[in-house]
Amino acid sequence: MDKDTLFLKVDPERPDKEIIGQAGLILRKGGLVAFPTETVYGLGASALDSRAVAGIFQAKGRPQDNPLIVHVADYAAVEKLASTVPPGARKLMKAYWPGPLTLVLPGGRNVCPEVAAGLDTVAVRMPAHPVALDLIKAAGVPVAAPSANLSGRPSPTTARHVRSDLDGKIDAILDGGAAGMGVESTVVDMTGDTPVVLRPGGVTPQDLERVVGAVSLDPAVDVAGVPEAEKPRSPGMKYKHYAPLAPVILVEGEPQRVAGQIRQLADKHTAEGRRVGILACSGTREIYPRGELLLAAQRGEPLSAAKNLYDLLRRFDEMGVDIILAEGVEPKGVGLAVMNRLRRAAGNNILRV
Ligand code: TXA
Ligand code: MG
Repeated sequence: MDKDTLFLKVDPERPDKEIIGQAGLILRKGGLVAFPTETVYGLGASALDSRAVAGIFQAKGRPQDNPLIVHVADYAAVEKLASTVPPGARKLMKAYWPGPLTLVLPGGRNVCPEVAAGLDTVAVRMPAHPVALDLIKAAGVPVAAPSANLSGRPSPTTARHVRSDLDGKIDAILDGGAAGMGVESTVVDMTGDTPVVLRPGGVTPQDLERVVGAVSLDPAVDVAGVPEAEKPRSPGMKYKHYAPLAPVILVEGEPQRVAGQIRQLADKHTAEGRRVGILACSGTREIYPRGELLLAAQRGEPLSAAKNLYDLLRRFDEMGVDIILAEGVEPKGVGLAVMNRLRRAAGNNILRV
């Protein structure tokens, strides 16, 4: 299914109307367009078009039971998509939209059934990126969009990442430079009495609580994997995700002890002839004499970790390392999202020291 993927450069702050119009038309006609958002790059299709949405699943190799987020450019669109909009959801939309917050609302309507993958809910988000907003407006339809990576690969934070995963499989890529935060939006289930964070992201639990009072964290947020028997509320959380090609060992704990443990592991794997990649924070990088070192973050600044994470995992792939040793960061604020992604990338390979 080789397509001639159009590669369109666009100014991220003042997107060219003509280019956006061209991409919007492709979407409206049932095509697939990748575009930048303030979190990661998305792969868009008209949420009204079963064939187009099926095309997303095919291009990504995405499991059929993993639903998609519908992206909108105005508040009125939400009223058409959800059967009801709970008061708490309205408050959160007002506080954090456009922005990295996805709300799961009751009763998906006016979208094709493939979007919700059999659930009776709809996930909606208004992205805070001029290219994304203009594209949705130009398409004139709600835009279903997962992250624009092959299923199981780290989410793309640049158009180059998208190209390396999806060139020849989709109709167009809008290149608007690096995406913003670097990790995907916070997903919150608003269908029950208490909001439940299904996936942590740029809007932290504390941010949510300031607006709607107590929220809870889905059990899948804190652990590496979900036990087979438990059906996660966000189907995407059950898959091993965000994974680079080499296995990841995540080491969590007090920074000096973490560094000591990673140094030992690096020595051992190097001695056994493996190429080791180390994901380090400032302040401990000096401790590692061996291995390919990439600086993941300024210590204590989880935003920098979020911004770099997926790009560095992909760089380790390109370097062809055999194993990746990663320092954990403090799971506070956006650090919670970073650790959620790292733990999932590591699967069961987590050491707590
Ligand atoms: O930042 C983001 O959210 C990016 C950009 C492109 O907007 N999109 C993104 O989409 O990360 P995706 O498909 O990679 O992740 C969406 C997550 C999945 O875990 C999926 O299972 C969950 O949201 N989800 C979608 N619809 C849902 C629903 N109705 N109920 C529960 N979870 C849902
Ligand atoms: Mg994804």
